[in-house]
Amino acid sequence: MDKVIGILNGMEFTIGDSLLELSYLIAALLFVYGLKLLSHPATARTGNLWAAGGMGLAMVTTLLLHKDANGSGIPLTNVWIILAAIGVGSAIGWMVARRVKMTAMPQLVSIYNATGGAASMLVALLEYPNAVAGDVGSILVTVLGLFIGAVAFSGSLIAFGKLDGRVGDIMKPFMTYINLVLLIVTLGMGVYIVISPNPPAEMVWAIYALLGISLVYGVMFVMPIGGADMPVVISLLNSFTGIAAAMAGFIYNNQAMILGGILVGAAGMILTMLMCKAMNRSLINVIIGSFGGGGAALDREQGNVKEITLSDAAVLMSYSQKIVVIPGYGLAVAQAQHIAHELDTLLEGKGVDVKYAIHPVAGRMPGHMNVLLAEADVPYENLVEMDDINPDMPNVDVAIVIGANDVVNPAAYDDPSSPIYGMPIIDAHLAKNIIIMKRGMGKGYAGIENFLFFNDKTRMLFGDAKSSISKLVNEIKSM
Ligand code: TAP
Repeated sequence: MDKVIGILNGMEFTIGDSLLELSYLIAALLFVYGLKLLSHPATARTGNLWAAGGMGLAMVTTLLLHKDANGSGIPLTNVWIILAAIGVGSAIGWMVARRVKMTAMPQLVSIYNATGGAASMLVALLEYPNAVAGDVGSILVTVLGLFIGAVAFSGSLIAFGKLDGRVGDIMKPFMTYINLVLLIVTLGMGVYIVISPNPPAEMVWAIYALLGISLVYGVMFVMPIGGADMPVVISLLNSFTGIAAAMAGFIYNNQAMILGGILVGAAGMILTMLMCKAMNRSLINVIIGSFGGGGAALDREQGNVKEITLSDAAVLMSYSQKIVVIPGYGLAVAQAQHIAHELDTLLEGKGVDVKYAIHPVAGRMPGHMNVLLAEADVPYENLVEMDDINPDMPNVDVAIVIGANDVVNPAAYDDPSSPIYGMPIIDAHLAKNIIIMKRGMGKGYAGIENFLFFNDKTRMLFGDAKSSISKLVNEIKSM
């Protein structure tokens, strides 16, 4: 293994080094393959395992084959400490992941982001004194790793607090200016450290000062963002964690860390942009803009809402040919996914074609509806994306809206003053009949009125979604 087979950049290269680099290449390929599989619910679980396998491979080969500049391997004591840390971390991760409720998934992702950011931040903090004075490249990646990792760490903790209802929204307009000043000071400090001719060992105070302001900036950056906008911010912080990990990879010149970090960074950024697009908002608007409530809604005749009885709903559904179920946040709140699947199975048994229309931001986190319905064993082929189902909506006999509001609000098409104007929606209003299940006339996330409820074709089935659907199932069974 230690046989020298070449010299690279003045350093001897052994068979062990080649095997290590080869294992990193294989790990990177496994990350990419895993990511590809993650793009479909049917293959996502396997994708996760492939990517985890890649990470496992990189960790094992690093422990066995890594050599420092003097050609020595990792000291045995350190190997034990690393193995113990991996053991403790894996046990905690396993227990938490098993216990977490589906609705608390964003909080869990936040905590993971915080730990990822903290790891990169600590790597940068510990390695900075070892950097060579004047080596601008390595000091730059160290400073970036520290700054981005610290922001991801403290920002994710605040995001967790907000999602869990422990930290309130503080949305003061002046915070935007404070944040701008903080950002300028942080970047100024970073530039000072990078261009300073002093040896890093003498600049340790500066790196701790940068750490302090970066942590404060992370808190201040997330603090003014509306609690309900957190999923977008979490995805952004996830991307920061990836970029910070890539910077740590540059510090150690470790290809697996660099590639893994870049993949997480890019995937997080793409998801952030997709969510903003599906909400028809810019990232800047999410970060510094307030959303919802306001906006002088179009002055129009509101009309009255019409209710439907359980027996009428049961008859209408049973004698339909085509039904589209549109799930939203309320379905998740009511945990009505299992009973909804019972309803669709019952109707399909009566020859009704039932599909679920999935809006990209229905619920409160990416893929929220897909995950819930998959948990209830609704077949993937019955879940249809918004763009594919909309052209068929005029042929649908009944659109059943379960706990969805904003994602079916036609104000997105016809009310330029509405905060959701321009946001793509599922065209429930084009169906021949519309049944809306919700508890009352409560508003959705955007905090605005929905004129679909007053549409002539619409009838409301008030009550908690789970209890309404189970009564409906009993009614249909007794027909
Ligand atoms: P919402 O517009 O939030 O509406 C949910 C509706 O569910 C409410 O109007 C509520 O009315 C009803 N509801 C609550 N609990 C219920 C229960 N137990 N049973 C029956 N109904 C219940 O949901 P949506 O249509 O899914 O839209 C999602 C919104 O979240 C969008 O504005 C989107 O931009 C935003 N958002 C999404 C994401 C992601 S990534 N998914 C991220 C950030 C923001 P009642 O109180 O009258 O019952």
